[in-house]
Amino acid sequence: MLRRPRRNRKSEAVRNLVEETSLSVKDLIFPMFLVDGAKKKVAIDSMPGIYRYSIDTMLREIESCMKLGIQAFDVFPAYPDSLKDTIASESYNPETFYLKALREIKKEFPELCLMSDVAMDPYSSDGHDGLVKDGKILNDETLEILARMSLAQADAGVDIIGPSDMMDGRVGYIRELLDESGFTDTSIMSYTAKYASAFYGPFRDALDSAPKFGDKKTYQMNPANSQEALVEGDLDTEEGADFLMVKPALSYLDIIKLLNDNFPLPIAAYNVSGEYSMIKASAEKGWIDNDRAMLEVLLSIKRAGAKVILTYFAKEYASLLR
Ligand code: PBG
Repeated sequence: MLRRPRRNRKSEAVRNLVEETSLSVKDLIFPMFLVDGAKKKVAIDSMPGIYRYSIDTMLREIESCMKLGIQAFDVFPAYPDSLKDTIASESYNPETFYLKALREIKKEFPELCLMSDVAMDPYSSDGHDGLVKDGKILNDETLEILARMSLAQADAGVDIIGPSDMMDGRVGYIRELLDESGFTDTSIMSYTAKYASAFYGPFRDALDSAPKFGDKKTYQMNPANSQEALVEGDLDTEEGADFLMVKPALSYLDIIKLLNDNFPLPIAAYNVSGEYSMIKASAEKGWIDNDRAMLEVLLSIKRAGAKVILTYFAKEYASLLR
C-alpha cells in the first residue's frame, strides 16, 4: 500500500497540521432575547440555558460574553400582545423598549457589532412577517413598514440590519432609504434563503410570535428547493446586501455550500432554535455528549462554507475554550 490516509491521523499534532477547517469565537453572533422592564432573566423552557433579559441584565450578560471573546450580538424583542397591532406600529416608535435598548447597548459597548431583526412578526397581532389583508400576506405594502423599522434601528446605532421577513425587494428598498437618510455605513445581512422550517418552534415560544393563522409558506422557501436559493442570492446581491444568510443551517448545509460557491459575499448561517434544543434535550437525557455534538455541529456549518454563524451555543462554545 503506497497510500495510507491514516498516517495523517496518527497523532493530535499531525491531525492539527492537516486540519482543514477552523472555528473561532470571532466567527459567531450570539442571538439574545429582550423583554421590557428591569432585573429580569426569565428561562425559556424549550431552550435550556437561554433566557429573556431586560436591558439591565442583558448589558451584564453581554459584558460577560465579551470577556469570553464574543464580539457580535443579535437582539430579538419579545413584545406583549397589548403592544401588537396589524401594522406593527410599535416597531418604529422611537420610545419603544427595543430601540431604547439597542441605543444603550451601543452606548455602553461601542466596540461590539450589534445586529437587529427586521420583520413584523414580533409586533404584529397577526403573527406574520408581513402585512395581512383578507388572509393574504401583502408584499409591497410591507416594504414601507420594514424600511421605517430599519431606519429606526439604524438611528439607534445598529451595525447590521437583519431583514428576516423574506418579502421580495426588501433589501433594495431598505438600502435606498438608509442611504437617502445618511446611513450609508449600516450593513444589511439578508436572510437570503430562509426556509419554512419546523426548527423555528422554540424561537416562536421564546417570543410568543407564532402566526395566528396559516403558515409562512407563501414567503419562506420550500425545503425541497435549492435552485431558488440562487435566485434569491442574485437578487440580494444586486440589491446591495453585505452578507447572505442561510437559515436553518443543519438541514441546509448544501445550500450554504451552493451560495458560497456562487457568490463572493460572506455567507452566514443561522443555527436555529430547534437545532439547539435537539442537542440540549438529548444531552439532558444522556443520549449524546453536549459539548462534542456542539463542536461538531458548529464545525460542520463552517466546513460547508459559512463565514459567520449565528448560534445560541456562542457563549457555551466560548466558555469551553477557556
Ligand atoms: C422571524 C424570525 C424567526 C427566526 C428569526 N426571525 C422565526 C420565524 O420565521 O418564524 C427564527 C430563529 C430561530 O428559530 O432560532 N422574523
